[in-house]
Amino acid sequence: MIHSKLQTLLWFLERPQLYRELMGRIVKQVFPRSFKPQDRQQEMLLWCGERYLDTSRVLQQLTGLESVTPLADLFPDTWQNATQRQESCPVNMGGAGNLELLYGCAEYLQALRVIETGVAYGWSSFALLLSLHNRPGGQLISTDMPYPKRNNDPYVGCVVPESLRSNWHLIRCADRQGLPQALKLVEQIDLCHYDSDKSYEGRMWAYPLLWEALRPGGFFISDDIGDNVAFRDFAAQVQGDPIVVGQDGKYMGILVKP
Ligand SMILES: C[S@@+](CC[C@H](N)C(=O)[O-])C[C@H]1O[C@@H](n2cnc3c(N)ncnc32)[C@H](O)[C@@H]1O
Repeated sequence: MIHSKLQTLLWFLERPQLYRELMGRIVKQVFPRSFKPQDRQQEMLLWCGERYLDTSRVLQQLTGLESVTPLADLFPDTWQNATQRQESCPVNMGGAGNLELLYGCAEYLQALRVIETGVAYGWSSFALLLSLHNRPGGQLISTDMPYPKRNNDPYVGCVVPESLRSNWHLIRCADRQGLPQALKLVEQIDLCHYDSDKSYEGRMWAYPLLWEALRPGGFFISDDIGDNVAFRDFAAQVQGDPIVVGQDGKYMGILVKP
C-alpha cells in the first residue's frame, strides 16, 4: 500500500506539468473528511436504468438520423489503420466511448469547435476528428493526463492517424490545468465530451465550465455517468432535460443547451 503510494508520488514528481494535480491529491489524502464521496452509485444506476435509450433511438431523437452505420463501415481503411495502431501499442489504455454517437452528433451539429476531456488511445478523438476534418476550420481540443504508473505518455492518442491531426490540439495536462487552457483557445463550443476525472467533485468542477462555453443548441455529452450522481445533480442545476444512452451496461448522459 505504502509502496504503491510512493510509486504514484514518484510518477507525479517526474512530471512537473502535473504538480498542481499532485497537490490537489495530497490535500484530499490529508483532509479526507472535506472530500466525502457523494457517489450514491446504486441510486444513480437505478436512475439511469429507468430512463436509458439505445444509441440509435437517441441519435434519431436528437438528429433525425434513421439508422446508425458503424464507423468501421463508413471509413474502412482509416478504421483498419487505427485498429492496427492500437494493436501495436504496448500499453493497455482501456476501452473506447460511444464512437457512432459522437460522430453522429458532430455531423448533425456541423460542429466546428469541440472540447473533449480524456483521450487514452484516442478513439473518441478519432471519431470526432473524422467529422471535424470535413469542415474548414474544424477544431478539436482534447485534454488528457496519462494513467499514473502505466507509462503510457507517448501513446496517448496513438490511434489518431497523421491525416486527422491538423485539426487537433492535445493538451497534456490534468483537467484542472488543461480545461482552462482549452477554454482560452475557443470562444464558444458546439459540442463537448467529458471522459476524464470520473469523481463527483471532478465532474462538478468541470461540467459548469464546459456548459458555460457551449453555444445554444450545442450538445453536452458525458461518459460513465453511472459512477455517481454528478450528472443528475448537474442536469437539475441547469434545469436541463437529461438524455441517457445505454451501451454495454454503461451509461452516457447528454444535455442540449437551450
Ligand atoms: C476513459 S479514458 C478516455 C477514453 C477516450 N475518451 C475514448 O473514448 O477513447 C480516460 C482518460 O482520462 C485520463 N484522466 C483521468 N483523470 C484525469 C484528469 N484528472 N485530468 C485529465 N485526464 C484525466 C485518463 O488517464 C485516461 O487517459
